[in-house]
Amino acid sequence: MALHFLTLMDLDNTTLRGLLRRASELKAMQYAGKDHAYFPRRIMGMIFDKSSTRTRVSFETAMAQFGGHAIFLSPRDTQLGRGEPIEDSARVLSRMVDIIMIRTFEHNKIERFAEFSRVPVINALTDQYHPCQLLADIQTYHEHRGDIAGRHVAWIGDGNNMCHSYIEAAIQFDFQLRIATPAGYEPNHDIVKRAGDRVTLLRDPREAVHGTDLVVTDVWASMGQEDEQAQRRRVFCNYQVTPALMAVAKPDALFMHCLPAHRGEEVSAEVIDAANSVVWEEAENRLHSQKALIEYLLTKH
Ligand code: CP
Ligand code: NVA
Repeated sequence: MALHFLTLMDLDNTTLRGLLRRASELKAMQYAGKDHAYFPRRIMGMIFDKSSTRTRVSFETAMAQFGGHAIFLSPRDTQLGRGEPIEDSARVLSRMVDIIMIRTFEHNKIERFAEFSRVPVINALTDQYHPCQLLADIQTYHEHRGDIAGRHVAWIGDGNNMCHSYIEAAIQFDFQLRIATPAGYEPNHDIVKRAGDRVTLLRDPREAVHGTDLVVTDVWASMGQEDEQAQRRRVFCNYQVTPALMAVAKPDALFMHCLPAHRGEEVSAEVIDAANSVVWEEAENRLHSQKALIEYLLTKH
């Protein structure tokens, strides 16, 4: 059976740490212009039910730099979009390509796909999780500040897919996570419960950020929640990451955001454009960390 990466819990913490070390190695190789076309003629299928800039470009670039190829598949022009069952699509595609990444809505869809796939499946975002982004975020933290184990991280805003993957990262990379959300927007109870005392749920963003090493936020309305945008803008208005909020974190605290960002909503322009904001490195590291992930999935199993 193929090994899949649907959540951060699919790999053990030693493997995850190894992947991040390898990601930095692959980054250094690319910077030095060293050839690393390890996977000639290997093909990635890329299924996108939602929009993307970073995810699409990083996966496609990764496969090209490995000497392979990636095929972009959108529901607009595949039979998946016309109702061909997920199970049948998984069986067919995985007889042709070597690895598949999927960005979709319900997490259950990707689980069903993986069950019927002969080749590794990577979660490139569902409504529930965004594990690839966490590989990049933790790599970025390690590169700037050393090991994240034992550090304090604040999540401000919506208890969404990114927040869920942060909770799993707190388990796997052993850091403390304080989450501040408005009432009714907390992360999934079962996911929080699994993290035990590594995660604290709060209402007050200042309490969450106080003395932390890293402050993270994300959009107030995720893809698929466009209809709730106006209402969410009202509910979340006290959850903007501002310079005043960053001032209660540690003086050398970093700021991260998976992007795309809405300046003036979840984050002020001053914060995202400040020197301790590492959002561009974070975006770049999607490429390097996913290369390490692809290499692992194509070679180890
Ligand atoms: N952060 C992220 O996944 O970006 P895209 O939606 O552009 O892929
Ligand atoms: N929470 C956001 C993340 C985008 C990368 C969304 O799901 O739209």
